[in-house]
Amino acid sequence: RAEADATAVTEGGPEALAAALSGCRRCPLWADATQAVPGEGPPDAALMIVGEQPGDREDLAGRPFVGPAGQLFDAVAGRVGLARERAYVTNAVKHFKFTPRGKRRIHQRPNAGEVAHCRWWLDLERERVQPKLILALGATAAESLTGDGRRLGARRGGVETTPDGTPVLITYHPSYLLRLPEAERFAAMAAFEADLGRAVEMVG
Ligand code: URA
Repeated sequence: RAEADATAVTEGGPEALAAALSGCRRCPLWADATQAVPGEGPPDAALMIVGEQPGDREDLAGRPFVGPAGQLFDAVAGRVGLARERAYVTNAVKHFKFTPRGKRRIHQRPNAGEVAHCRWWLDLERERVQPKLILALGATAAESLTGDGRRLGARRGGVETTPDGTPVLITYHPSYLLRLPEAERFAAMAAFEADLGRAVEMVG
């Protein structure tokens, strides 16, 4: 079944992938989410950007990085000449994981099993797009792409690789930057901006 899915998806375009993804039952996260959020962008993008999972806004819109984290990303990307529309933007996990609190839905980090199940989709996207460079936003993306689940700290700003050899530039997740106390935010934002600038340089 998985192989049949893979063939249909690889041979079809982005619509085939989105359609197959919307029926994904590989882990239980689909049950509470509004919809799966597929990646978007040119199918031959040189740069792939990978986040953690859709947030509240992305879950409702069906598009990646349209909420506050995406807005921060876009602002910094604009400063370094990173054209988001030329990149393929996706997430390590395609369904929103949350706990309800009153009327709000509070983001929960996906666990290792959920990330591993969803890697099937990320691998398909990587195979189709064949990016020159992948920008991993945060530890979940870094783990899914490299297999290394260590904390981000010392890894940030470094280039690692996927098991099949694609370079992965590791940087902060924009939601992390939004949560930082102001005293720490300035330096972290500067590092994030430098990483995005490096990604632009690396893809040429
Ligand atoms: N955070 C992510 O990691 N991805 C999104 O698409 C939105 C917020």
